[in-house]
Amino acid sequence: VVDISSLYRETGRFTYDPGFTSTAACESEITYIDGDEGTLLYRGYPIEQLAEHGDFLETCYLLLYGELPTKEQKADFDYRVTHHTMVHEQMSRSFQGFRRDAHPMAIMVAMVGAMSAFYHDSTDIADPYQRMVASLRMIAKVPTIAAMAYKYHIGQPFVYPKNDLDYATNFLRMCFAVPCQEYEVDPILSRAMDRIFILHADHEQNASTSTVRLAGSSGANPFACIAAGIACLWGPAHGGANEAALNMLQEIGTPERIPEFVARAKDKNDPFRLMGFGHRVYKNYDPRARIMQRTCHEVLEEIGVKDDPLLNVAMELERVALTDEYFLEKKLYPNIDFYSGITLKALGFPTTMFTVLFAVARTVGWIAQWKEMIEDPSQRIGRPRQLYTGSPKRDYVNLSDRT
Ligand code: ACO
Repeated sequence: VVDISSLYRETGRFTYDPGFTSTAACESEITYIDGDEGTLLYRGYPIEQLAEHGDFLETCYLLLYGELPTKEQKADFDYRVTHHTMVHEQMSRSFQGFRRDAHPMAIMVAMVGAMSAFYHDSTDIADPYQRMVASLRMIAKVPTIAAMAYKYHIGQPFVYPKNDLDYATNFLRMCFAVPCQEYEVDPILSRAMDRIFILHADHEQNASTSTVRLAGSSGANPFACIAAGIACLWGPAHGGANEAALNMLQEIGTPERIPEFVARAKDKNDPFRLMGFGHRVYKNYDPRARIMQRTCHEVLEEIGVKDDPLLNVAMELERVALTDEYFLEKKLYPNIDFYSGITLKALGFPTTMFTVLFAVARTVGWIAQWKEMIEDPSQRIGRPRQLYTGSPKRDYVNLSDRT
């Protein structure tokens, strides 16, 4: 049975589009992607220029308010975000309820969702002031929660935010400083972290952002919506791909084994895919991947790694894949995750933290998209339809009569 839905019967129109490959669910002024050209713009500004000249909090302002801030607006925004970096002390205690070996993403989903229990004075979505406070709270506190999830995971005490530091430096310090020991964040590594945050800040209607919009369309509070986005991001086909890409490069190990893995990726009887390759929208080189590759070289040079075996495998794999008929024909190019794993590892993060870092950066994109939706007067609850393919109508059979 295929039920062509009442909508079709009534209007003669019905779109069946599994995976939403050709269905726009909203209008948006935030992010533009031209997948054929390999172009990414935030509010009209090319990602290359923002990553080269801007900083992450400026990018946050741009995504949220639509324009680059003036000097005064930037100082005010930085101050307000900084003002919110601490989390409620009772929240710190909530971490103790998790197993130490819990995946930090599991902790993130729970603790960001729990923000609605701690900051319920900013959950009224009808109030613009509360919406603004909730947005600032999330941009400021999600990195603190992420660093706490990491510290908890490795059994070290939490490091509190230090608010005379910039966003990325503060985050790296919360992750890597140890109480009672001097710790200076290397400015080149901090700049790399900041750039990685810019690259991940928004990417229009990807799976996690669509999840945030769908959750938000019911009127759910913003903390709950962002927690839903984090849960969606966790999957290996989305935010989990950087972890999977690094694991794959480690498994390949040496350039000599590349042909074996490329052959597996092409074999339709083998579920293996080249992680960090391919994208739903980019049918050209992901512009973020280029910037990430450059950042990777900078970080490795700064930490004194001259000849990184993983980077060698990655670059050779890219070369082989980009001269292979299969990948060319299907337009499969490296995406942002291909080089981000090596970079994040070089910054000192374990693989379990990779998707967490993505969530920290993407929080602003989710909030900007959520805010745009809530402030749109034509906004309605999201309610996809279906093609019913189950049993036709039938009568209930009593348990004693069933065979
Ligand atoms: N390796 C080998 N083959 C691939 C790959 C890959 N990485 N990606 C796609 N293909 C093939 C598919 O097998 C399919 O082949 P077919 O036409 O013969 O059936 C074809 O290319 C199209 O692939 P789809 O899965 O239909 O493309 P879709 O747009 O649904 O998926 C996705 C995009 C999920 C990103 C996919 O390319 C993939 O799984 N890549 C690896 C995971 C990854 O890197 N994810 C990160 C995405 S970026 C991000 O989230 C920040």
